[in-house]
Amino acid sequence: MMKPLVILSIVLVHSYGECEYDSRYIGWKVFRCDQITPEESEFNKLHGKEKPLNFTRLYWENFTGELDPNTLKVLPNLSTFELKNSNFSTIPDGFFEACQDLEDIELRNNNNLKTIEENAFKNLTKLRNLFIINNSILEDFYLEFVSHCDQMENLGLPSDVVLSMDIPQLKEWFPKLYSISIVIYVEMEDSEKIMKKIEDVINQTELKIYFRDLNDCCSFINSYPE
Ligand SMILES: *[C@@H]1O[C@H](CO)[C@@H](O)[C@H](O)[C@H]1NC(C)=O
Ligand SMILES: *[C@@H]1O[C@H](CO)[C@@H](O)[C@H](O)[C@H]1NC(C)=O
Ligand SMILES: *[C@@H]1O[C@H](CO)[C@@H](O)[C@H](O)[C@H]1NC(C)=O
Ligand SMILES: *[C@@H]1O[C@H](CO)[C@@H](O)[C@H](O)[C@H]1NC(C)=O
Ligand SMILES: *[C@@H]1O[C@H](CO)[C@@H](O)[C@H](O)[C@H]1NC(C)=O
Ligand SMILES: *[C@@H]1O[C@H](CO)[C@@H](O)[C@H](O)[C@H]1NC(C)=O
Ligand SMILES: *[C@@H]1O[C@H](CO)[C@@H](O)[C@H](O)[C@H]1NC(C)=O
Repeated sequence: MMKPLVILSIVLVHSYGECEYDSRYIGWKVFRCDQITPEESEFNKLHGKEKPLNFTRLYWENFTGELDPNTLKVLPNLSTFELKNSNFSTIPDGFFEACQDLEDIELRNNNNLKTIEENAFKNLTKLRNLFIINNSILEDFYLEFVSHCDQMENLGLPSDVVLSMDIPQLKEWFPKLYSISIVIYVEMEDSEKIMKKIEDVINQTELKIYFRDLNDCCSFINSYPE
């Protein structure tokens, strides 16, 4: 009696998007979601909604809805979260709260993302890599929101966040910080100010600052294992 369900889920892939286990990543438990939330997936329904899913990485794309603070409750074991090319406007308070093992977060190419709420990153004490890149209208994100993440090693930041960065505070909040990545465009209005700021940061810290090409800015998070 399983067959009709399987056929149904194939139909859903084409019409409404779906989530699937991506077995190409040997040794990682990767869940890949297209258009829908992990909760809405056929996979979750078949698995039994009351049991959490045992994936450690979520690669999520093309989601057209808004994010609900409960969305990630179904994935308590995530260590990597990636959300790209999606249309939500806000990351709500407590969004990552159920995922206390998160080490990597990448938010990228989200054209409608305007606000990250102050307590969105609450409870993330293991966070090591945070990339917030190419979200064209993002206004409300401040480093204070992750100041409790004292294991932070690599940050990818919007240029306005780099500009307003307080260097002594940076060292205090993130004693293990290793690099900051920033994507700047030659024609950007503030590019001179940004270059000056970067020089200050380099002079006053041991940090490397990478100027990344958008196409490979964050690849170390999701590249295939060697
Ligand atoms: C998201 O949409 C693009 C364009 O339609 C597609 O190439 C990509 O595979 C989709 N992402 C996922 C995870 O299915
Ligand atoms: C979850 O995955 C881990 C690592 O693959 C495994 O050791 C563990 O038994 C799994 N737990 C459940 C409840 O499936
Ligand atoms: C994206 O969200 C906006 C509202 O915030 C809406 O007007 C627009 O239609 C959405 N686009 C897609 C592709 O869902
Ligand atoms: C998954 O997360 C749950 C809840 O945080 C925890 O009890 C369990 O040990 C975790 N499993 C693995 C394999 O890490
Ligand atoms: C930046 O994001 C926009 C949409 O949000 C996308 O169209 C564009 O391809 C992205 N740029 C790169 C280099 O990824
Ligand atoms: C988040 O952290 C607070 C205190 O820092 C704690 O009281 C709360 O239980 C944590 N939330 C979860 C879901 O563990
Ligand atoms: C940074 O250090 C270099 C060499 O020590 C110096 O030439 C430069 O003026 C300094 N820049 C700033 C902004 O302090």
